[in-house]
Amino acid sequence: MLIRKPEGWEIPEREATPESVYWNRRQILRAAGLMAVPSLAGQGKPLYPAAKSEEFTVPAAPITPDWAATGYNNYYEFDPNGKETVKDLVDKFVISPWRIEVAGLVKEPQTYDLDDLLKKIPLQERVYRFRCVERWAMVVPWTGFPLSALIKMLEPKPTAKYIKFLTVSRPNEMPGMKKAPYPWPYFEGLRMDEAMHPLTMMVTGLYGKPIPKQNGAPVRLIVPWKYGYKSPKSIVRIEFASGEPPTFWNRLNSGEYGFYSNVEPKKPHPRWSQAYEQMIPTMERRPTLQYNGYEKFVAGMYNGKEF
Ligand code: MTE
Repeated sequence: MLIRKPEGWEIPEREATPESVYWNRRQILRAAGLMAVPSLAGQGKPLYPAAKSEEFTVPAAPITPDWAATGYNNYYEFDPNGKETVKDLVDKFVISPWRIEVAGLVKEPQTYDLDDLLKKIPLQERVYRFRCVERWAMVVPWTGFPLSALIKMLEPKPTAKYIKFLTVSRPNEMPGMKKAPYPWPYFEGLRMDEAMHPLTMMVTGLYGKPIPKQNGAPVRLIVPWKYGYKSPKSIVRIEFASGEPPTFWNRLNSGEYGFYSNVEPKKPHPRWSQAYEQMIPTMERRPTLQYNGYEKFVAGMYNGKEF
């Protein structure tokens, strides 16, 4: 029998919210007709809720309530000045069909339909810590797949050392874009080893349902050991590159936002301490963890200077 040794980031069951509580909540929501209708893909199987691997289902800290994680957002294309307002500004945003262009140093540059990709790569649910550079933090169950699975399928050339992400630009659907003179669309990047790390996820779901628009529908990145701005939402283009790509926040303020942006409690932001974080929605303070708690798995990729 094959026994899989859980990776250390997989949060143990004993530290979990009891499953009965979770399921009761789901039963109540289903009875009330409040749960999203699962979409169909693959061989007609519903995508959500995705198979929760035992190891990824539950967090060490209490899971952030669904309403809080989906009601307190940074999505500047909708509102550069508000967080609680974002969810009320997304109605016009069209997320289907959704195509992702793959470009640069790759075997075959081409455009993929997201639904087709989701037929090829199975989804799974994982609970991750998530930490914004502004200090607020949450613990949520993302549904998605390792970015490495997609990269392997795309076959980048050996000269591809970095990956660049571009997010959607639709000023007529995204009211914040006309409000702030930012260098839209939002762009981000990772080094190839970071992109290939098994923790790095492409996310299409949240709380066992398709991810809400305000959280980055229909597909976003999640890199849990970095500040949240390294996790771009609503991705429309992936480019493989030989050199370090420019990033949105670094271009806006290079003194405050570096390329790596790994969570480091001892390195303060120029305008505030990063020694503690605040859990939404209570804003309870907790100590910030090195690499957001994922040090054991990711520190080996760095020489200790990449913050
Ligand atoms: N992606 C896009 N396209 N636009 C954004 O404004 N904000 C980033 C990141 N991805 C942002 C984005 C920041 S600053 C954070 S903290 C997270 O998304 C917030 O994700 P959440 O709203 O799902 O918590």
